[in-house]
Amino acid sequence: MAQCTQSSPPRKGLGRRLLDLWQTRYTRPQPGARQAVAHLTPAVVVTGGSHGIGLAIARRFAKAGQTVALVARNPGPLQEAAAAIERDFGAKAFAIDLDVTADNAPFELDARLAQHALYTDVLVNCAGVGLSGNFDGQDAGEIEQLLNLNMTALTRLMRHALPGMRARARGGVLNVASLGGLTPGPYQAAYYASKAYVISLSEAVGYETRGSGVRLSVLAPGPVDTEFHPAMGTEHAFYRQLILPLSAEQAASAAYRGYVLGCRLIVPGLLNMLFAVALRILPHTLMLPLVGWLLKPREERNWSVTNDNEQ
Ligand SMILES: NC(=O)c1ccc[n+]([C@@H]2O[C@H](COP(=O)([O-])OP(=O)(O)OC[C@H]3O[C@@H](n4cnc5c(N)ncnc54)[C@H](OP(=O)(O)O)[C@@H]3O)[C@@H](O)[C@H]2O)c1
Repeated sequence: MAQCTQSSPPRKGLGRRLLDLWQTRYTRPQPGARQAVAHLTPAVVVTGGSHGIGLAIARRFAKAGQTVALVARNPGPLQEAAAAIERDFGAKAFAIDLDVTADNAPFELDARLAQHALYTDVLVNCAGVGLSGNFDGQDAGEIEQLLNLNMTALTRLMRHALPGMRARARGGVLNVASLGGLTPGPYQAAYYASKAYVISLSEAVGYETRGSGVRLSVLAPGPVDTEFHPAMGTEHAFYRQLILPLSAEQAASAAYRGYVLGCRLIVPGLLNMLFAVALRILPHTLMLPLVGWLLKPREERNWSVTNDNEQ
């Protein structure tokens, strides 16, 4: 398998090259912008890249021959994930242990990338956290952490990366939101609201950057089988019992395909696409009771009592 060396461009098929040429047909990089990073390797930087959807997206880009940089807080899983990518795809993968909510995270990320002679060509903002239960019963500090990670850190990283991408007239941002961003979500109120922000921001900035040679996509998956839901304590909510989750790999394939094709909103899975259309069309007053019923956390005890009665 071909190794990505420091100065080699990412491997691209003819179709991908033609698509790139078409999407950048009216754009020209600013003078000197590409030369300024000519000694560096363009990297796909994936926050939340050590687990779940972020890792699967990083693996999908690496499979296409691109150099990836995985960003998360815990170094152990990060290094394992990077080593597995190098072993499985022969692409270069770097582990960067960094809390993206830290004040200086965008600058620290640049510095850490530069240590490996990399720069951010594609930014995948995937690190995110959920929180379930009644809003007024949730810990105020945890709500703040959620907003910091899901909205503030994502916004700051994107704001930091975009000017360079625009100047080079290449690269892009793939923000990870959620299908939940299309509706208010009782019992996950702050989480759903944070994802609505991500969709709104991405669609608006995507409009502003159209024709600039910079792609801007937002991924809105329904439930995906990762550590995310157990961590939130929602394993017994009805949506976990009734909606078949996608695998992280299925979500990542859809994300990669949608990003390469220049789609603005990417919803993986046919059923989720139908949900997305319904959520876009139907008024919130109709959807709220259904979404609330699906999301309400339920005790494990209730399920076993039901099962006992059924036997
Ligand atoms: N799973 C789903 O059903 C689903 C559905 C729709 C949308 N989403 C969205 O998809 C994204 C990823 O979800 P997932 O299911 O893959 O979650 P996950 O398996 O829990 O992975 C979360 C990742 O984010 C990293 N992370 C957390 N806090 C961080 C911080 N402050 N700085 C840097 N990295 C941090 C974690 O690593 P460390 O803990 O080591 O930092 C981990 O790599 C989230 O934005 C989520 O809202 C998930």
